[in-house]
Amino acid sequence: MKITTKINLITTAWILCVLVAVNAVVFFSFMKITVNMEEDILIHKAQNVIAEIHMDDTPHELNKKLTTYLTNHSFIRIIQPDSKIRGEVSSDHYLLTKFKGEFSTNQEAQRSTIKQEHKEEQILIVRVPIQSKGKVVGTLEIGDRLLGLELGKDVLLSILTFCTLLGAGLSLLGGRWLSSVIMRPISNMINTMEDIEQSGIPKKIIIQQDTKDELQKMAVTFNRMMNRLDVNLDKQRQFISDASHEIKTPLTIIKSYADLLRRRRIKSEEKALDVINVIHSEATRIQKMTERLLELADTEMENSLDIKSVNIITLCENVFKQFKEVYGREINFHYQEDTIMITADELKIKQVIIILLDNAIKYSTDKIDVYVEDQSYSTVIRVKDYGIGIPEHEMENIFERFYRVDKARSRETGGTGLGLSIAKNIMNQHNGEIKVASIDGIGTEVVLSLPKR
Ligand SMILES: Nc1ncnc2c1ncn2[C@@H]1O[C@H](COP(=O)(O)OP(=O)(O)OP(=O)(O)O)[C@@H](O)[C@H]1O
Ligand SMILES: [Mg+2]
Repeated sequence: MKITTKINLITTAWILCVLVAVNAVVFFSFMKITVNMEEDILIHKAQNVIAEIHMDDTPHELNKKLTTYLTNHSFIRIIQPDSKIRGEVSSDHYLLTKFKGEFSTNQEAQRSTIKQEHKEEQILIVRVPIQSKGKVVGTLEIGDRLLGLELGKDVLLSILTFCTLLGAGLSLLGGRWLSSVIMRPISNMINTMEDIEQSGIPKKIIIQQDTKDELQKMAVTFNRMMNRLDVNLDKQRQFISDASHEIKTPLTIIKSYADLLRRRRIKSEEKALDVINVIHSEATRIQKMTERLLELADTEMENSLDIKSVNIITLCENVFKQFKEVYGREINFHYQEDTIMITADELKIKQVIIILLDNAIKYSTDKIDVYVEDQSYSTVIRVKDYGIGIPEHEMENIFERFYRVDKARSRETGGTGLGLSIAKNIMNQHNGEIKVASIDGIGTEVVLSLPKR
């Protein structure tokens, strides 16, 4: 079933229920109020009659007085305590025979329904005791057909039925209009989505009116999502093109040198060994780059962290020990406490420190200083070298993938230009920050700050 039909049917059914409930309340309140009013009128009339009559009056005198109070379709009786009728007048013989007189010491009202010629009618009978010298000497009984009530009831029922049907009809029309208004932007969205599905190109929904409602919000969110998708697709394309470009250069070198070897153009064994060395170093470069690319892909996935509590001091010490052994460089480690705990993915943080230390070693020859500080909201790690530094205009590029300040030098050092991109991704995964401060020819300081969880 279409959503518009559903909305339509549900709203109409709901409005119908509300109307029926409201009408029922109106109808029963009307009946109750009208009957109460009729009751009051009859009791008041009975009291007027009682004020005028005497129980010593002759039956003829009594009936004469009662007749003046008689209306159409009613009867008035006086009943003695022994249930005998003292006086009785009537303009409706049927009522007189149907309802026998009853003596009562209390004031009371009785409502009955009679069926005559397939029609129901309400009869109201009130009884008021007649008192003389503090004793009840008789009961005045008045019976009346509630013809006005019947008429009012019929008119009210027709009005209520008409209003209910009108309400249902209007709600059906309103529901159709409402659902079409709601559905129009949704249909637009569905069309755009179908277009995207068919063409595979992210597209935006055209927002015609600035309605500021949930549907506009949905369309804006959708457009934002498409924007991100577009940007990501661009990035992906750029990445593939950069990566293939980076791999192409060493591959071309390997291929041309291998060709030389294959065609036996190199005569001396010494030269051949040189060529083989170049091939080996370029192959190693490709190997390193593919490893780095895999690392980069791993850090680009969200929520792939294995978070633990780690002592950053021990972690750094272990890394420095290995570096000192391999490179024989002076690495000074500065910290205030032996234990500074961080909550992070141990392997990934280790990877960041290795990347920074690797850069410091590659781009400097002097000592390297590493500081770890425990601050109130974060743990700060600083890696400082006194090497070639980075020119100011290059600072904004160094986090870009494959970016190297000095391509020729990088070739010598074996840099792929992916280290800082990976480090930045890892810090982002930890909601942390990485900042670089550098002076060309003086040195570089990289500051990592990890928020405390
Ligand atoms: N400590 C540093 N001193 C001077 N230049 C640096 C330093 N760290 C990074 N750079 C510059 O920033 C560039 C990008 O660094 P990144 O670590 O991303 O790549 P890489 O070191 O060239 O390669 P990889 O780390 O992938 O082996 C480097 O090529 C280098 O030019
Ligand atoms: Mg590096």
